[in-house]
Amino acid sequence: MPYVTEDNLTDVALERWKDIPDPRLRQIMQSLIKHLHGFVRDIEPTQAEWAVAIDWLTRTGKLCSEKRQEFILTSDVLGVSMLVDAINHRRPSGATPSTVEGPFHIPNAPSISNGGNMAEGAPGIPCFVTGTVRGLGGEPVGGAMLDLWQTDGEGLYEDQREVNGPWMRGLYRSQPDGSYAIRTVAPIAYTIPMDGTVGALMERTNISHMRPAHIHFAIIAPGYDTCVTHLFQQGDEFIETDVVYGVKAPLIVEFVKKPPGKAPTGETLATPFYEVRYDFVLQQKAEALVAAE
Ligand code: BEZ
Ligand code: FE
Repeated sequence: MPYVTEDNLTDVALERWKDIPDPRLRQIMQSLIKHLHGFVRDIEPTQAEWAVAIDWLTRTGKLCSEKRQEFILTSDVLGVSMLVDAINHRRPSGATPSTVEGPFHIPNAPSISNGGNMAEGAPGIPCFVTGTVRGLGGEPVGGAMLDLWQTDGEGLYEDQREVNGPWMRGLYRSQPDGSYAIRTVAPIAYTIPMDGTVGALMERTNISHMRPAHIHFAIIAPGYDTCVTHLFQQGDEFIETDVVYGVKAPLIVEFVKKPPGKAPTGETLATPFYEVRYDFVLQQKAEALVAAE
């Protein structure tokens, strides 16, 4: 074994980290060393800069708890979360694309009947989202579960409000013809948490820390790949600079402003409201396709 020099250190470390029985872990560690050494050789940190980096990582870890995940936020703002999502959800064109789940999903949302209101008592402009859930072949998908969560009209999620009951989330089911109808309020753009280490780093950049207005969806149907995604409001000023890179063109929808009157659910509103129409297209699970052959 040669003694180390600046020049041979990467090769020496790569040789040492070959000794891993699990081939996948070996591949990951080899790549990690290659890229991490490459990064350090590229930036040539001073000892003081390296200490700052370690301190930042230490403080980031200390901020993490059951309620907060500053490392996931780090991955989000560096575009890594969306890259992992893209690699794991390569869908044919025509299928609704995925986006990151984000930290605000709370399991076991209340079941709400088709057309029911998931924003009872919440501030904001009423908003009706209707459309269908279909398979890539055009077949209606009845009985799909649509799990929704979003901010209210003041940009706050349930976790950020002092409320006892569920807030701005609900479980809907598509009808036998694949149709669904949701009443909510229009979300607004909001900032990612800026009071931690990620915020401190963002403050030293000119990068926007805003997410454009969006509604989160997880669509779950037997025989189909679960689709975790968002719908974004067309025209939002942050649509091209989403801090977590979540926006994909097919997910941008028009929120059509309507005067007081009859809503898509049949109810009559005394105030203006939005109508949003979106047809979700699910990809069949690989196993379901094989079984059908
Ligand atoms: C969200 O959309 O809820 C979200 C996603 C990533 C980071 C912060 C928030
Ligand atoms: Fe969100």
